[in-house]
Amino acid sequence: MRILAIETSCDETAIAFMEASGGLKRPKFKILKNLVASQIKIHRPFGGVVPNLAKREHIKNLPALLKKIQNSRFKIQNVDLIAVTVGPGLEPCLWTGINFAKNLKSEILNLKSDLIGASHLEGHLYSFLLNPKTHILNPKQIFPAIALIISGGHTILIKMDSLIKYKKIGETRDDAVGEAFDKVARLLDLPYPGGPEIEKIAKKGNFNAINFPRPMLNQKNYDFSFSGLKTAVLYYLRDSCENTKTRENTKEGKNVKKNADIAASFQQAAFDVLISKTLRAAGEFSAKSIFISGGVAANKTLTGKFKEAIKKRKLNISFYAPKLKFCADNAAMIAVAAYVNYLRKKNRRLIANGGLSL
Ligand code: KG4
Ligand code: ZN
Repeated sequence: MRILAIETSCDETAIAFMEASGGLKRPKFKILKNLVASQIKIHRPFGGVVPNLAKREHIKNLPALLKKIQNSRFKIQNVDLIAVTVGPGLEPCLWTGINFAKNLKSEILNLKSDLIGASHLEGHLYSFLLNPKTHILNPKQIFPAIALIISGGHTILIKMDSLIKYKKIGETRDDAVGEAFDKVARLLDLPYPGGPEIEKIAKKGNFNAINFPRPMLNQKNYDFSFSGLKTAVLYYLRDSCENTKTRENTKEGKNVKKNADIAASFQQAAFDVLISKTLRAAGEFSAKSIFISGGVAANKTLTGKFKEAIKKRKLNISFYAPKLKFCADNAAMIAVAAYVNYLRKKNRRLIANGGLSL
């Protein structure tokens, strides 16, 4: 089955052209084209995503990306399924993708293919299927599994008994972890998006320098909270500014070291909670695998610490993080989610739903 997938839920415009096979038992994907037009430079001066600017860029980028695929060696007319993200996300952006997909089917290409909506969160959830290692595995070797979605809008822990039988067991009660990275980056005068910037400067810092709180770490549930951690960084900065009169008064070199320590200590606090709760859930549900996904899963310090913790505790669990390009928003993961749901005949309506939950 050939799938053309479209993703416009936030600030990345993405189109993927994929081949899917294997059904629900052994789903397998071949990526023919996976294109992303990033809008980071446009939103950076505003310190975050501006919805109307994002919509304007999607309108401009979608035809350009499609043209790139049409100009390639692939025959886009042979598409069996068109999939488009319908939520969650920014509704003006989602509508842009939906209208483009409808137009694509009826006017531009005169395709006879089916057109269905897909969930952005299921895209992240199923992104482990883009890993060639999981193709060769028997479902009995993978499930039960624990999945952790960590992005700019969500922090969700999920128990998966099979590809299609899954249940949310915890989520953030306030800020998403990526959102906390972005907000702390702003406090440290780092550009948007803050996650990669924090990761970069944290490498030069001491993660034990400041003992930031680990919110909800010792609570028995699988929920998270990151807003208090962000506020703890804010208070730390305010108090240390008072101590040194103004931050500007401190020597440049000293400030850089201090910011690196703050970034490293904040990152460590956030990761301690994510890793501890995910491993506890894996233990409780006898998970054979852990899948992490979403923009924050691109953090190499996090993946390193996950692997280290699994090894240290001598757990017999396989750990999967997507390749970098499949952590951030992309359309390949939307094709995967669409394939799974199409086979299940669980097609989503073509209506933008900004608050669509898992
Ligand atoms: O999945 P994603 O691209 O978009 C959403 O669905 O939200 O995630 C974006 C989030 C942003 O908050 C960004 O700061 C964070 O992922 N992020 C990172 C890293 N790369 C991106 N956070 C921590 N470390 C990174 N290396
Ligand atoms: Zn996302």
